[in-house]
Amino acid sequence: ALTSELGKQIKLKEVEGTLLQLATVDNWSQIQSFEAKPDDLLICTYPKAASGTTWIQEIVDMIEHNGDVEKCQRAIIQQRHPFIEWARPPQPSGVEKAKAMPSPRILKTHLSTQLLPPSFWESNCKFLYVARNAKDCMVSYYHFQRMNHKLPDPGTWEEYFETFINGKVVWGSWFDHVKGWWEMKDRYQILFLFYEDIKRDPKHEIQKVMKFMGKNLDETVLDKIVQETSFEKMKENPMTNRSTVSKSIMDQSISPFMRKGTVGDWKNHFTVAQNERFDEIYRKKMEGTSINFCMEL
Ligand code: A3P
Repeated sequence: ALTSELGKQIKLKEVEGTLLQLATVDNWSQIQSFEAKPDDLLICTYPKAASGTTWIQEIVDMIEHNGDVEKCQRAIIQQRHPFIEWARPPQPSGVEKAKAMPSPRILKTHLSTQLLPPSFWESNCKFLYVARNAKDCMVSYYHFQRMNHKLPDPGTWEEYFETFINGKVVWGSWFDHVKGWWEMKDRYQILFLFYEDIKRDPKHEIQKVMKFMGKNLDETVLDKIVQETSFEKMKENPMTNRSTVSKSIMDQSISPFMRKGTVGDWKNHFTVAQNERFDEIYRKKMEGTSINFCMEL
């Protein structure tokens, strides 16, 4: 157990070497026996305030509803797509919410390929993975842990640097997560996207998602989706900016959930020495993979 800034005990437990929240681990058999369906679409990202999960969720929701803003305002983003491994009893778990959802379902997970319930692979459903470069992910996750009282206090930036590269964060190592999903992409129906690409050319990437979802929207609708899912819009939108979450869970006066939304903010955090060390570790850990990240725009 680790102590948060509020002095709360944050209970985590490992599953196959990956740290997860205790309530998730307590619910593990229900999660592992989850029954996926062939027409499910699973949104997958490395956690949590890190990779642009909320961003891709809003994009997918807008595409599904043909750019109808009102329909996307029906609920806060956390409630629109059941989060498979989420558990906070006595509230209904992510699995229970998914079961209650009519098909075709759009679901969300932060699990690695190793920990994903096997029925997702067996049902051959669609997966939409969004990856973000490790350095910006580390920065984003660090600030998220500072403000989120359900996650451990990250400590100083120097301390967090070690925690992150050793994969001792909730949902595990960035390196294993990204490598695992990258390796699966040719064997399953996986659309593998990069945060940096969406940032550089949102329309082009949104079009890819649209085609992957089997939809066909005209230019004006696409342009509207680009506009509505911009960082500036989503930061002001109470359905996406987490402003409805209680301060005892997320304290946005410490760091806003919609923090910066840029590529390359790592340069404001990494020292020259940390950067060199990181690059060396990265080379070792990512050896043999063909994945290539953009580090600045
Ligand atoms: P920063 O902390 O770098 O600002 P997740 O939803 O997976 O928790 O990811 C959160 C990260 O995505 C945060 O990154 C957040 O600002 C960024 N983000 C959310 N919506 C975005 C958008 N519309 N455009 C760009 N970045 C966005």
